[in-house]
Amino acid sequence: MFWGPPGIVDGAGGSRTSAIEHQSYRKRIMPPSSTVPAEAPKRIGVAADHGGFESKKYLVGMLREAHYDVVDFGDSQPNPEDDYPDFVVPLARAVARGEVGRGVAICGSGVGACIAANKVPGVRACLIHESFSARQGVEDDDMNVVCLGGRVVANTFAWELVKVFLDAQFSGLERHQRRVAKVASLEHRDSD
Ligand code: RB5
Repeated sequence: MFWGPPGIVDGAGGSRTSAIEHQSYRKRIMPPSSTVPAEAPKRIGVAADHGGFESKKYLVGMLREAHYDVVDFGDSQPNPEDDYPDFVVPLARAVARGEVGRGVAICGSGVGACIAANKVPGVRACLIHESFSARQGVEDDDMNVVCLGGRVVANTFAWELVKVFLDAQFSGLERHQRRVAKVASLEHRDSD
């Protein structure tokens, strides 16, 4: 299974600006290790605070049953005092480094998890409540972390959303690469 966008060739057919954006995107956001070959294990990272703990437990079971290689970033127990950034940020960094192909981040509403994950350059996290966006978010926007509200969506529906997310692939269409690169360029600018 292909986890990252296909190689960005040279911006042929695009403007000079888009070619530069593409190169920048490729260098900084898509390290070679982020592209897992079709035959490699499907390695998925999961993270949750107490608000998402039960959902995470359920989803880890379902993912493993479906033969995904799951890396659990915690929390390892339901602790009402824990803080979602402590688990979501390590997951997000692992996604950005290509150590896991994609991530599933859960808190009570999914909002905090989404905000935290998107602070990590290279992460494109979205709070998802329905399957259209679970699929199109990957196909068009190259979403690599799905955020869920453990107190909002039932476990079985969360699993449906995760399956749609994991089955979807970035289209790689030039117009989508261009848009993703424009978003990525903000990370570059803000870290200068
Ligand atoms: C924790 O109680 C809760 O605020 C957190 O899980 C999450 O919903 C934040 O967005």
